[in-house]
Amino acid sequence: MSVGAELRLAVVVLGASRGIGRAIARVAARDGNIVVLVARSPEDLAAAAAEIVGAGGEAFTIELDLASQDASSRMEAFLAAKGLACGVLVNSAGYGLRGAATSLPADEQLGIIDVNIRALADMTLRFLPGMVARRSGGVINLGSVAGFAPGPYMAFYYASKNFVRAFSTALHEEVRRFGVTVTCVAPGPVSTDFLEKSGADRAALFKVLPKLDADYVAHEAWQGFKSGRRLVVPGISSKLAAFIARILPSAMALRLIGRAQRRKRDPNPRRPETSIAAPARKPESAFGKPDA
Ligand SMILES: NC(=O)c1ccc[n+]([C@@H]2O[C@H](COP(=O)([O-])OP(=O)(O)OC[C@H]3O[C@@H](n4cnc5c(N)ncnc54)[C@H](OP(=O)(O)O)[C@@H]3O)[C@@H](O)[C@H]2O)c1
Repeated sequence: MSVGAELRLAVVVLGASRGIGRAIARVAARDGNIVVLVARSPEDLAAAAAEIVGAGGEAFTIELDLASQDASSRMEAFLAAKGLACGVLVNSAGYGLRGAATSLPADEQLGIIDVNIRALADMTLRFLPGMVARRSGGVINLGSVAGFAPGPYMAFYYASKNFVRAFSTALHEEVRRFGVTVTCVAPGPVSTDFLEKSGADRAALFKVLPKLDADYVAHEAWQGFKSGRRLVVPGISSKLAAFIARILPSAMALRLIGRAQRRKRDPNPRRPETSIAAPARKPESAFGKPDA
């Protein structure tokens, strides 16, 4: 499809070098769309593009570190140089870290805000106005079942996915009357590099949940988006996990998730390990007793 005299609409996929993003790019290309693949790893991007071109599709690649502040302006300049406009934006780039927030490196945790939240919001704000003006297209944002609760020992990741869910569903309500869709996709564990890289694969919580296939998640995401849905939770196990996270009392959810995600070497609140004398009774916060 073309816009105006020279611009052609493309599906722009952030995090397209691997995993779910790469699978969504394949589905979008099979549906006859031009795809723009975005990530940092040149070899993986080239392989993803070759897959699509080999199957008869059209793909462009751009190496971009989404943690950098100028990522969205560079993205826009790249598209203009190729005679493209963003018809659909897929925000699939993201990462997580498992462990106590006080033990994990601060810069890596803050990077989760840069990539999972800031880049996603910045790209959305850059390209959504064009979609509204054209009265077509939309955004697919990768959330997670982690977006339905706070997650002790993966605090930044869960908080980032809570943002993605709240932000996406609110924007959907704002733009749907213009024929534009913002879909939040919230899967449980998916068999990609994410699980090992984040350390989530060694957490009891992730071990008990069945792993979804990335192609299945991509198919559900794309179909849900095309049907104008604001939330897609792929698979029965993810739906059940999201339902339980939503109905459990917060104190119970916090304890269950915390216990199921804590690493052996994380500080254990029940067994103080420092040389500072352990308080004889339950510690009180500066503002009184901690919540039960
Ligand atoms: N796998 C799961 O269990 C699961 C479950 C629920 C939700 N999700 C969410 O689904 C999304 C995709 O995850 P996945 O499972 O496909 O993970 P993945 O296989 O690790 O892929 C992550 C993608 O994000 C890109 N990326 C990461 N940091 C980037 C940066 N600074 N700049 C540019 N690109 C960056 C990576 O590319 P480069 O490294 O080449 O830059 C890669 O293409 C994430 O938002 C994740 O939170 C995953």
